[in-house]
Amino acid sequence: MSRIDSAINIDDLKRLAKRRLPKIMYDFIEGGVEDEVGLRTNANAFRDLRLVPRYYVDTSKRHQKTTLFGRTYASPFGIAPTGMAGAFRKDAELYLSQAAAEADIPYLMSGASNASMEDGAKLAGKNLWYQIYGSRERSFQLDLVKRAIDLGLTTIAVTCDVPVSSNRERNRRNGFVRPLKMTLPTILEAMLHPAWVINYYRTGGLPMLGNWQRYAAQNATPDQVADLFAKQTPDPSQTWRDLEAIRNAWPGKLLVKGVMHPEDARIAVGMGVDGLLVSNHGARQLDNMPSSLEMLPMIRSAVGPDVPLLLDSGVRRGSDIVAALCMGADFVLTGRATLYGATAGGLEGVKKAVSILQREIDLVMGQIGALTPEALGPEYLLDTVRSEEERRNTGAMVGRR
Ligand SMILES: Cc1cc2nc3c(=O)[nH]c(=O)nc-3n(C[C@H](O)[C@H](O)[C@H](O)COP(=O)(O)O)c2cc1C
Repeated sequence: MSRIDSAINIDDLKRLAKRRLPKIMYDFIEGGVEDEVGLRTNANAFRDLRLVPRYYVDTSKRHQKTTLFGRTYASPFGIAPTGMAGAFRKDAELYLSQAAAEADIPYLMSGASNASMEDGAKLAGKNLWYQIYGSRERSFQLDLVKRAIDLGLTTIAVTCDVPVSSNRERNRRNGFVRPLKMTLPTILEAMLHPAWVINYYRTGGLPMLGNWQRYAAQNATPDQVADLFAKQTPDPSQTWRDLEAIRNAWPGKLLVKGVMHPEDARIAVGMGVDGLLVSNHGARQLDNMPSSLEMLPMIRSAVGPDVPLLLDSGVRRGSDIVAALCMGADFVLTGRATLYGATAGGLEGVKKAVSILQREIDLVMGQIGALTPEALGPEYLLDTVRSEEERRNTGAMVGRR
């Protein structure tokens, strides 16, 4: 049995990824910002939610197929963008692309990916979506949109939650900054992970930011391309006008990733975006943010029942995906969960992560008596059941008087 085969949950894949990576790399995946309160906020939001099962429901024909933007996917979740994934395992984004196509779920490729969207699309076809970071030089972001059009992609997402860089103290302590400032303890610790070190240097060291290569000088090194990217993003001067420019340039489905305030949700929908990805960036931007799960009901109320709402941040279990759908999401994305898989075992690892989540979703749906993802709603949540019972009991008391 391979080590990937032995993983029975996402936490097992996380342990395998951790074992493979030097601390400086693992911390880049795992870390939050400052005191990392946000990581706990995200985990606790799911842990504190209670699902109330219904029994004697014939669930023998249950399925998890989900339709989003007129396209039916095999499951109610897809893969969130994670930049520089190729540094954790060479070609990670190609594995994510291929696994998404094979599982028939979407993969939202990062604007800071190592593979290019052109190479991703060769493997993922229509399952590839693309994420854009606004750039100081506006022509870059518009060219990225044009490339997505030329490839026939159906969906792009603009990330709005990185107006400025965030204070990731693990990275600063480890010297994971530009230019890289590795301390002696960091270098010595890396020696304990020879498989990754050998693979990293044998395949050329720092991988190229594939989508940005063409905007740099000819023959620019990966370092020089990364410098260009770092100068272009984040761009603190971006406003709703920039989103509007992308909306005007992009005829396909447009998501805004990172919307957390109901008022921002209303503005974005008013500008004609097709859906919102409620996210706190996996607690990697602002430490004291609420979880996306906490904000979701307010955003649902703000935009009404018809606007597709996607959610990410903190999802580690199929039950988390089911809970998000009960809370009002239409679809869920996984960041670290699938990245652990890619890091630990390449294609096999991503497929394992996806199949673990699919199996868990299926079992939880069976447990609570839900036949389809559309059937999941607040009626399965303890808070709803409690208030419904209180309302009934109060009614009964009034009737008795
Ligand atoms: C290593 C890493 C890199 C990320 N890079 C990006 C990125 O390039 N663009 C983006 O919009 N979000 C990025 N994110 C955020 C994810 O898209 C997603 O919002 C987050 O991981 C969800 O939280 P989760 O990891 O708890 O599932 C990144 C997250 C991680 C862990």
